[in-house]
Amino acid sequence: MGLVRITDPGVKLIMVGGKGGVGKTTCASAIALKIAMEGKKVLVISSDPTPSLSDIFDIAVGDRERRVHDQYELYGLEVSSEIVLKRWKERFGPEIYEVVSSFASVDYDFVDYIGTAPGIEEEYMLNFIMELVEGGTYDVVVWDTAPAGHTLRLLKLPELFLAHMEAATKFYMNIYSHFEKLKNTLKLNDSKRTLLEIIASWEALAERIVAFIRNGEAVKYLLVTIPEALGVRLTERVIKELEENRLAVENIIINNVVKDEDCEFHRMRKEMQEHYIRLIMATYGGKNIILLHLSPYEIKGLERIEEVAKRLFE
Ligand SMILES: Nc1ncnc2c1ncn2[C@@H]1O[C@H](COP(=O)(O)OP(=O)(O)OP(=O)(O)O)[C@@H](O)[C@H]1O
Ligand SMILES: [Mg+2]
Repeated sequence: MGLVRITDPGVKLIMVGGKGGVGKTTCASAIALKIAMEGKKVLVISSDPTPSLSDIFDIAVGDRERRVHDQYELYGLEVSSEIVLKRWKERFGPEIYEVVSSFASVDYDFVDYIGTAPGIEEEYMLNFIMELVEGGTYDVVVWDTAPAGHTLRLLKLPELFLAHMEAATKFYMNIYSHFEKLKNTLKLNDSKRTLLEIIASWEALAERIVAFIRNGEAVKYLLVTIPEALGVRLTERVIKELEENRLAVENIIINNVVKDEDCEFHRMRKEMQEHYIRLIMATYGGKNIILLHLSPYEIKGLERIEEVAKRLFE
């Protein structure tokens, strides 16, 4: 059996996660191609710092959405952290400046400073993806997330985002309450109302992101792992964290599985792998587990990607 519930009609976003180098970009590309071949308009987006989609599609993808298939409506996009931060500044910069400059004398550079706060970039990445999905240009977005640790942090984001925004909100609310008190005596003008409105809009956005990411009908999480101790441990951690955040993983891909034991080296490797495959299967009996064999060649170009897609969905 192949991947389940990935190509369901309501699915809008597929997130592919896992440790570094396990085959996330390969699987994300194959899934995107498969869905495009079904006649849908698909965007595969990589938030990896290295231009990985370009490598696998053998075409310069870059930071503008670009069609990567002649026949099918398959598009690629490699977003760098600079771009995400730039969009964040465009989106929140004026508001932040408006809020802060209403009670303190600051330069607009202040916005750059806020932009360096840890987590901002990943927080905004979620918003960026949500806007892409809701923008409706594509039927399905496949997100090839950045490797491990990073991904783990990303997966915590719905909570983090809210916490961050709430902290900011509380901070400004405190200040605002001073204004409120002053207001009675000093009669500050109505402009402070916008301040509250801005803060409320941030909160609403954070809530919208949480709701978006938890909509199991529209958003699917898929984990790629390898049959080795490190892969297994990381999978456990990621799944635990995801599920603590009420995000269900339905499919796990075990990649690089040795198929034929045609020599002593492969016999030993296969034996080693089987131990971990059994372990994963025993731990996640309720989930759909797909084995993806190690190919003798590099997976590069549409033909190879299509072969992977066939194996993932057969
Ligand atoms: N089943 C497979 N058989 C053979 N080669 C594979 C297979 N899966 C992936 N590869 C190769 O392994 C390398 C890593 O794969 P990929 O880039 O998809 O991993 P990744 O998880 O996206 O890595 P990163 O964390 O660095 O982004 C690539 O060169 C890819 O071609
Ligand atoms: Mg990758």
